[in-house]
Amino acid sequence: MSSGQGGYADAYRRSLEDPAAFWADAAKGVSWIRKPKQILDESNPPIYRWYPGARLNVCYNALDRHIIEGRADQDALIYDSPVTGTKRRYTYAELLDLTARFAGGLEALGVTKGDTVLIYMPMVPEAVIAMLACARIGAVHSVVFGGFAPAELAVRIDDARPKVIVSASCGVEPTRVVEYKPLLDEALRRAEHQPETNVILQRQQAQAEMGPKDVEWRTLMTPNAVPPAGCVTVEATDPLYILYTSGTTGRPKGIVRDSGGYAVALTWSMKAIYGVGPGDVMFTASDVGWVVGHSYIVYGPLLAGATTVLYEGKPVGTPDAGAFWRVVEEYGVNAVFTAPTAFRAIRRADPNAELLAGKNIQSLKTLFLAGERLDPDTYAWATEKLGVPVVDNWWQTETGWPICANPRGLDDLPLKPGSPSVPIPGYDVQVLGPDGQALEAGQEGAICIRLPMPPGTLATLWQDDDRYVSSYLSAFEGWYLSGDGGYKDEDGYVFVMGRTDDVINVAGHRLSTGSMEAVLAAHPAVAECAVIGVHDALKGQQPRGFVVLKSGVDTPPAQLQDELVELVRAEIGAVASLRRIDVVNALPKTRSGKILRKTMRQIADGAEVMVPSTIEDASVLEALSPILKW
Ligand code: COA
Ligand code: AMP
Repeated sequence: MSSGQGGYADAYRRSLEDPAAFWADAAKGVSWIRKPKQILDESNPPIYRWYPGARLNVCYNALDRHIIEGRADQDALIYDSPVTGTKRRYTYAELLDLTARFAGGLEALGVTKGDTVLIYMPMVPEAVIAMLACARIGAVHSVVFGGFAPAELAVRIDDARPKVIVSASCGVEPTRVVEYKPLLDEALRRAEHQPETNVILQRQQAQAEMGPKDVEWRTLMTPNAVPPAGCVTVEATDPLYILYTSGTTGRPKGIVRDSGGYAVALTWSMKAIYGVGPGDVMFTASDVGWVVGHSYIVYGPLLAGATTVLYEGKPVGTPDAGAFWRVVEEYGVNAVFTAPTAFRAIRRADPNAELLAGKNIQSLKTLFLAGERLDPDTYAWATEKLGVPVVDNWWQTETGWPICANPRGLDDLPLKPGSPSVPIPGYDVQVLGPDGQALEAGQEGAICIRLPMPPGTLATLWQDDDRYVSSYLSAFEGWYLSGDGGYKDEDGYVFVMGRTDDVINVAGHRLSTGSMEAVLAAHPAVAECAVIGVHDALKGQQPRGFVVLKSGVDTPPAQLQDELVELVRAEIGAVASLRRIDVVNALPKTRSGKILRKTMRQIADGAEVMVPSTIEDASVLEALSPILKW
């Protein structure tokens, strides 16, 4: 393997030869209340625990610590909201003050260590404050992406069972104001579990109607109303948050992140992978509702003592495709991190990057892209227009930080279009065949990670160790199944080709086709249905639905299609982007009744088609082909 300055090869080797020594050393980057003595608990495989017995507070590491170290007046967070015309800077001292006060407010509402708090908010500083406030008092937060509709929110409320929900009156999309409170109220009507209190941030763009259990954010934050909260000591193995992500079924998985391992891994990754340190400015254009937002809008940059930019807007249309360049220039951004879709949208709107002209983006050192496959065209365009390294990194909600990347702080490894480069120290990444044997270079298979995975990766699924083991650790004993397929090349570079299950990635948003099918199947006219993800030039993938009607249904197809599209928007959310639904006579199946989704996807994408020999009736597939190719 080509190793540039050699830093990577050495670190990688050490991390696999002696993980305990490697992560003991990395743990020195974190401020502990009780330092780790034992690094890895291997007593209960396949479940592993990092730093058992050690104690810390993650909020202390993200805020207090930097003030003690002299960064009180440095910007911790810059809020830039083109959709509301607002800009505001928060120094570390200000962010700590607000966080401690909100944490005090949560304590006054009865929230204590180990309680869960659900956060359903748009991209406003209060979302970050609420997350950090939970971390401060040892409460476990669960942020739900604001684009999810009431049904999805209700499932998460019932699983996380929050004592308090923190929300806002609205989110602001470029073309409309999305009122959150009616969505929250509807979710609570559907949920069995009821929180004791809802804290609502009233925003100017819409006033939320308050109910008997609702308290306004500003009431809780009235100066001197409650004492600010200090940091509560937690075990390294205590959960910091739950983050729900789409699985193959309609039931989302509650990824549990521990406190100590995550703090160590993120602190290490900020320097080694992202090359961002104290005083640097990182602009991660994602959403706090996704893992990229948790790790690299909120915790990573703050743990590193850097400045994070919280951007409430889109890459295009707010007001134009030059928005990111404006942010880079205005705040002296050193690292931008977003999804490839954002760059495809910018390129489509401004192919020659004319809006870059006259902008000073010299502060920018690196562009990081993740969340979906980075196609070589977008890679080449971004590299040419920005003139900085474009670093693809591959990871998942489950892992919390990159599995593969080009670690800029460690080395100067070559970049290869189409590959997120090499496995990061701590991750023994192998491509396995169906029999569990590691495949040779160039051969495509299931990308797996040898257990134990490094610190910061999922501890388990929320209150469901069995589902954790059966979903991820059972396919190949001793390995974590990523759900992605791909291969390694001769230099050990990993190429991630896409999911091998029914998870799809639409504009960097991870969605389950299974949950969309559940919504379609609930319509009284639908006998059976299938949803597949097909290639899309802008969003990477788009869902497409196919429904077979019950006999005797005489609703005109166009009306039915509109109803179904509306149903998915209402039940899952507009982000599902299911716009095309075809009414068909039959769905292709195997003799045992399994719908041939993979074959359908291959036909739709114009890929090599593999029709299983177990197909029940080949004429069904033939009849469907023209519709799929359309
Ligand atoms: N709250 C409410 N609605 C939301 C929302 C939110 N937080 N986020 C998106 N939506 C809605 C949008 O308004 C849109 O609604 P519409 O169908 O009525 O127009 C729908 O969900 C789809 O949104 P989106 O996927 O953002 O598509 P788009 O066509 O509006 O914009 C891009 C396309 C490429 C500009 C946009 O997807 C983008 O910025 N992508 C970057 C992805 C990203 O940051 N991913 C995070 C992982 S790193
Ligand atoms: P999420 O959990 O939302 O971060 O989505 C994780 C999934 O997104 C992965 O399993 C991949 O399918 C896909 N993904 C994320 N980053 C990349 C990348 N750099 N290249 C290819 N696919 C990616």
